[in-house]
Amino acid sequence: ALKIVTIGGGSSYTPELIEGYIKRQDQLPIKEIWLVDIEEGQEKLEIVGEMAKRMVKAAGLDWSIHLTLDRREALKDADFVSTQFRVGLLDARIKDERIPLSHGVLGQETNGAGGIFKALRTIPVILSIIEDMKELCPDAWLVNFTNPAGMVTEAAIKHGGWKKTAGLCNVPIGHRKQAAEKLNVPEEDLFFKFAGINHFHWHRVWDKAGNERTDELIDLIYGPQNEQESHLKNIWDAPFHYEQLKDLGMLPCGYHRYYYIEDEMLEHSIDEFKRGETRAQVVKETEAKLFELYKDPNLDYKPKELEQRGGTHYSDAACELIASIYNDKRTDMVVSTQNNGTITDLPYDCVVEVSGPVTSHGHEPYNWGSFPPAARGVIQNMKGMEETVIKAAITGSYGAALHAFTVNPLIPGGVMAKTILDELLIAHKDHLPQF
Ligand code: NAD
Ligand code: G6P
Ligand code: MN
Ligand code: MN
Repeated sequence: ALKIVTIGGGSSYTPELIEGYIKRQDQLPIKEIWLVDIEEGQEKLEIVGEMAKRMVKAAGLDWSIHLTLDRREALKDADFVSTQFRVGLLDARIKDERIPLSHGVLGQETNGAGGIFKALRTIPVILSIIEDMKELCPDAWLVNFTNPAGMVTEAAIKHGGWKKTAGLCNVPIGHRKQAAEKLNVPEEDLFFKFAGINHFHWHRVWDKAGNERTDELIDLIYGPQNEQESHLKNIWDAPFHYEQLKDLGMLPCGYHRYYYIEDEMLEHSIDEFKRGETRAQVVKETEAKLFELYKDPNLDYKPKELEQRGGTHYSDAACELIASIYNDKRTDMVVSTQNNGTITDLPYDCVVEVSGPVTSHGHEPYNWGSFPPAARGVIQNMKGMEETVIKAAITGSYGAALHAFTVNPLIPGGVMAKTILDELLIAHKDHLPQF
């Protein structure tokens, strides 16, 4: 019987997870689900936790759902630990977005200065969770959703030494569905190969007959006559440059917009900033509405309104990964995992986000090889930036943090980098004990 723990259980996404487990009830002999939060999240935990109990009851299942602020009690003898916490809650995200934007520089949850600061706050916490796990559940799998998922997963595997870690994101799932829809071919009849790092990956697509369909998809999705919808609620649909993608020969992920058409994305973000409508500010309202719904004692299913959040399909990733490990299903998934030579352009021991089957011993990535030069340069720069952020998060080195800002492509170097860094360090000081 399984004991599954979710850290950050008060998240509005918890019904996604519960729905995913209910769908897979025949594959997962769940006995206990523990939802862990902290004092600041206690009210949310209770509301969404009661809702989770109603969902399980409505499905006729006898799983016991535990709500707790005691992480150690929850972790004792756990089989799977999933993480979806947000250090500093949405108020911290508002600062990550608004402080850089106040200087005319992109502020975003996982990219640029905002993403770097989310990593600086989060990495010490994931490492302390791992310290507890070493003692309390040494055989458990760690399924990380906490953003920036790539850097947090790399810190867990490489620095925490927790090899049984899988990092997940919903973005590849959206791109798979998009390709199937555009080609009008069932998703299971297509073969996908994704490679890169979290929120900075590309993919190629083949059909059952063995024909590569990537170039056709570039035309269908990003051709001049198309709308180029990003399919993610949190990313504005500015059009990519078609000729550039044709040259690239791979499909980009939605987040590449911040890099490939940086000026347009920045301009749009600055408009949002001026209106007081950066993404975190909008999400704060969406979240308040969701929790009003969750309070309804008659609501015992995931409400449609949750699709307003960017993390839709999230449970398809988390619950399927757990079911695939538990049953050795070998489901083909995109996972943030140790490179081990899969991408020859990147260090052996870094974390990459790549395709492959999920076995009972973990993810087995398909070999990718190297990138074309135009992608190789930027991904090597991004990975070096990530490694520098992780170093800063662990050591509290101001120099390393400044260096990460300097090499991040979305942050202008020099005085500007230092000004924004200093302001963010002050704004977030309660959540940055290492600095
Ligand atoms: P949220 O603001 O609702 O935070 C979730 C919970 O974490 C809150 O209830 C909060 O109290 C709790 N928390 C904060 N610090 C904690 C700690 N130290 N220990 C335990 N709990 C703690 O966040 P959300 O919008 O639901 O997102 C949750 C996380 O998942 C974020 O990091 C977000 O970026 C990430 N996310 C990732 C993906 C993905 O594609 N990987 C998709 C969706 C969300
Ligand atoms: C996408 C990303 C997640 C990110 C989310 C933001 O789904 O994959 O990593 O957390 O969007 O959504 P939000 O609704 O919080 O802006
Ligand atoms: Mn993601
Ligand atoms: Mn820079």
